[in-house]
Amino acid sequence: MSGTLKAFIDLAPQLSHFQDDVLSGLSATPKTASAKFFYDSEGSRLFDQICTLEAYYQTRTECGILADQAEVFRQSLPAKAAVIEFGSGSDQKINLLTAALPSVSAYVPIDISKQYLIDTASNFAANKPEIAVSAICADFMQHIDLNQIVTDEPRIGFFPGSTIGNLNPPEAMQFLRNAAKTLGAGGYFVIGVDLKKDPQRLIDAYDDDQGVTAAFNLNLLARINRELDGTFESRSFQHKVVYVNDPCRIEMHLESCAEQEVKIAGQTFHFSKGETIHTENCHKFEISEFQKIAADAGFIAEQVLTDPGKLFSIHILRVA
Ligand code: AVI
Repeated sequence: MSGTLKAFIDLAPQLSHFQDDVLSGLSATPKTASAKFFYDSEGSRLFDQICTLEAYYQTRTECGILADQAEVFRQSLPAKAAVIEFGSGSDQKINLLTAALPSVSAYVPIDISKQYLIDTASNFAANKPEIAVSAICADFMQHIDLNQIVTDEPRIGFFPGSTIGNLNPPEAMQFLRNAAKTLGAGGYFVIGVDLKKDPQRLIDAYDDDQGVTAAFNLNLLARINRELDGTFESRSFQHKVVYVNDPCRIEMHLESCAEQEVKIAGQTFHFSKGETIHTENCHKFEISEFQKIAADAGFIAEQVLTDPGKLFSIHILRVA
């Protein structure tokens, strides 16, 4: 089912060049690769599967907070608002937020992936004809001027999933400052933030016993082989998860099981046994620590909602 979008704005985001990024990351010491390249069609399918795993508590816990505390969201957020979702992805969480806020008048999903955005936004529009849907194809890291789309309605930004944790601290600060500008003074921001907890629980969430997260991480090598004429043998690498205490984060790596050479786009890379490619950081926060970061970016902490086990938090912030 697909519905009509009120507007579609293509800001033609600069997709950073896969080949240049991979070659420079693998030429660095230590070797790195950007997590943003996980999400080809197989990577997106595996990520959706991760979100359903017992060990990956984040998705069901955040959805539980959105559903169970609908009344708090309704009381804390303005009526007849426009909800702006940064990096909109699937519609599971926006459906829960709009169920909690029945008077939402407009929805503005922002995503870098054009066709996926058009499909999900059109679906949402078909299911919720009472909400005006205007989609923007853009990199959510940039400042986006909404004045042509959202005029008088109060603005509520939405950034679920704890994707903020995948950004480095300076990137997270830049993202929050840009979001504050996009939302404008008095605008609200609803943001999901994963919390610090028992390290083993975190390790299990990123190293599940069904091997789905391992397949998600290793899929990056298959993508490099396919798109950049690479010669990775994925059996010669293994998924590795490292817990770091300060700053608190899970790191994902791909570890070389042997000394080996790999060719990518005509360039040769040497791997010693045990050497890793650092593929992702997933930062975890204390509530007060995140509130301090948000305050430095220009937000006032209005509310924080958590689950009974204090695994995950959803912050309601207001632009100062
Ligand atoms: C998208 N992001 C919030 C996920 C996370 O938990 O940091 C990505 C992920 N990586 C491995 N599992 C999930």
